[in-house]
Amino acid sequence: MGQHRAPTIAAHGAAMPVVGYGTMLYPEPELAVGLITYAIEHGYRHIDTARKYGSEQWVGEGIRASGVPRADLWVTTKVTEENARADDFARSVTTSLETLGLDYVDLLLIHWPQPQVPLEETLGALAKAKREGLTRHIGVSNFTVALLDEAVAKSPEPLVTNQIEYHAYLRQDKVLAACARHDVLVTCHVPLGRGRVLDDPVIEDIATAHNKSPAQVALRWLVQQPQLAVVPRALTFNEIEEDLDLFDFELSVEEMDRISKLRDKNIRVVDPPARRPVWDER
Ligand SMILES: NC(=O)c1ccc[n+]([C@@H]2O[C@H](COP(=O)([O-])OP(=O)(O)OC[C@H]3O[C@@H](n4cnc5c(N)ncnc54)[C@H](OP(=O)(O)O)[C@@H]3O)[C@@H](O)[C@H]2O)c1
Repeated sequence: MGQHRAPTIAAHGAAMPVVGYGTMLYPEPELAVGLITYAIEHGYRHIDTARKYGSEQWVGEGIRASGVPRADLWVTTKVTEENARADDFARSVTTSLETLGLDYVDLLLIHWPQPQVPLEETLGALAKAKREGLTRHIGVSNFTVALLDEAVAKSPEPLVTNQIEYHAYLRQDKVLAACARHDVLVTCHVPLGRGRVLDDPVIEDIATAHNKSPAQVALRWLVQQPQLAVVPRALTFNEIEEDLDLFDFELSVEEMDRISKLRDKNIRVVDPPARRPVWDER
C-alpha cells in the first residue's frame, strides 16, 4: 500500500486535513512513539492529542522522529474542564507546549464544557492563547447546540471546529446543523464508535462491494459529508494505513443512505456522567 494524503476542509482561514490520527487510550511509550512516527511518515498530517490523554510527549517525539517539517503538520491539543479558569487554562496551554516540545499548536480546544465557570472566561483565555501565538486556531469539543450558539456569540476569535462524537451509530443532526450555520467544522471523535460499527452487516456488505474494509467504509461515510473531519485511533501499521486510504473510492447516494439509517441505533460511546452536558435530542 502506498502513501496517502488527506484533503483539507476550510473555515475562518484554517485548512484542516480531514483525517487526523487520534492518540487517546494509548499503549506504552515505546510503541506509542513508533506508531505516531509511522502515521506521519505514512502521510498523516493531522494529529489529535489532549492534556488528558497523556500522549502529548509521544506526539512531540513522533513528530521529531518523522523528520516532517513542523509547518506541514496540523497538531490539535485540548484543555480539560478542570482548567476552565483563565489562569489554569493559560498554565495548561504552556504545559501542553512544553510537553509536546512545540512553540505552537494548530488548534486548541476546550475539551469539555464546564458549567461552573462562566463561558466568557474560558473563551477569553482561549482567544488569548491564539493572540499570543500559542495556537493558530481555536475551537470547542463536546458542545451542544445551545453551548455552541453561546460560544460563537461570546468568543472574541472565530471558532474553527466543534469536536464531537459522530459515527454510523449516532444521529447528530441538530449539532451538525448548528455547526453548518456558524461555519464551524465538525471533527468526529470516536468515528468508528470505538470499534462497534465494524461488525455491522450493512457496513460489511458495502465494504465487500468496494473491496475496502469496514473501517474504511465507516470513515468514508463520514468524510463524504460536508465540512467533516475524522480522528480515528489505530494501533497497528496496517490499520493506520487503512484509515487514511479513503480517497480512491466513493459511496453512492444509496449506500450513504443505508449507512445513515444505522444512526437510529443511537449509541453514544463517550458519555462520562461527571462531564456530560444535556445532550441534544436527535
Ligand atoms: N474530544 C473528545 O472528548 C474525545 C473523546 C474520545 C476520543 N477523542 C479522539 O478521537 C480519537 C478516536 O477515538 P477512539 O480511539 O476512542 O475510537 P475510534 O477511533 O472510533 O475506534 C478505535 C477502535 O477502532 C479500531 N480500529 C481503528 N482502525 C481500524 C481498522 N482500520 N480496522 C479495524 N479496526 C480499527 C481500533 O482497534 P485497535 O485498538 O485494534 O487498533 C480501536 O479499537 C481518540 O484517539 C481521540 O483523539 C476525542
